[in-house]
Amino acid sequence: MKRDFRALLNPALERIEAYKVEGGQEAEVKLNQNESPFDLPMWLKDSILDEFRREPWNRYPDILPYRGMATYARFLGVPAESVIMSNGSNEMLYTIFMACLGAGRKVLIPEPSFSLYDKLAILMQADVVSVPLHRDLSFDVDAIISAAMREQVDFIVLSTPNNPAGKSMSHDEIERIVSTCDAIVLADEAYIEFSKQKSVVDLIDRYPNLIVLRTMSKALALAGMRIGFAITNPGLMAEITKPKIPFASGRLAEITLAGVLENYSLVTDAVRYLLAERQRMHAELSGIDGVEVFESDTNFLIIRVGNASEVFTSLKAAGVLVRNVSGYPLMENCLRCNIGLIEENNRLLELLKSF
Ligand SMILES: Cc1ncc(COP(=O)(O)O)c(C=O)c1O
Repeated sequence: MKRDFRALLNPALERIEAYKVEGGQEAEVKLNQNESPFDLPMWLKDSILDEFRREPWNRYPDILPYRGMATYARFLGVPAESVIMSNGSNEMLYTIFMACLGAGRKVLIPEPSFSLYDKLAILMQADVVSVPLHRDLSFDVDAIISAAMREQVDFIVLSTPNNPAGKSMSHDEIERIVSTCDAIVLADEAYIEFSKQKSVVDLIDRYPNLIVLRTMSKALALAGMRIGFAITNPGLMAEITKPKIPFASGRLAEITLAGVLENYSLVTDAVRYLLAERQRMHAELSGIDGVEVFESDTNFLIIRVGNASEVFTSLKAAGVLVRNVSGYPLMENCLRCNIGLIEENNRLLELLKSF
């Protein structure tokens, strides 16, 4: 008799679930995926599409998107050999986890942190060493270093600024981890454009064990285009390139990236707006009875309410979609609300005040 098909699959599948976004992806006021509320202006979309029209659609793109990689390397001021582009930074996370992990290897992940890290570690049959954040949701750097040494981990993944917790490590703290620990360190800087802290890209020449991850989905407002990058020294780059899916980025992503980087004032203006709104929202939310607000170094705020499920459901019924992050350790009854347009933020405030 044949076995049930489940017995034929990777046993790790029993421990993971398909990715889902609670509440869906449609709403009048959408504050649940840390996206930018500012789409590209039509004139820029038109010029990108004009260029895309002249590309050969019948031909494969390059194995790796070398044009996009060269464009981003120039923007960062690093050599082109230090940059690799992916179809969203999620794809790069898969690539890097495949390169760094396998059965019996150990990965240190501060908790809570971006949920995909745990999932990929389990899929790679690696052992996860979790290090809790402090109660105020800041990183416990000493605990990370001592756990990394004690457990002899091979790989350390830091979402800094941290999704969903909202706080960052300083440049010096990351350097302490990279210089002290005998492990590959991945610094996921998805929210760096909103941060008070400096990027650690400048450290890639000095430390052969550091990889920096970037996404164009947040401050650069290109979530729909799927563009991410890893930046590291050429030696480590040659290794992490090995498991990369070939031809994963299309020509449109490369052209769009160049269009946005050439018009970077769109990004800086949007970031300025969102940071001013973050500050205003923090002050306004702090004044609402029954709402506790955490400091944030990102484009979202974490609030603690009396009953997160009830508030999530009431907001959703009123057309405002936020993320219920109360299932994460240390985040009981917490909601994650990204900063939107002034009127969207005001709608959230009005509703929270009325509950
Ligand atoms: C910390 C972090 N890393 C990576 C990603 C993935 O972004 P993308 O695949 O859109 O580049 C996200 C998205 O929410 C994130 O929060």
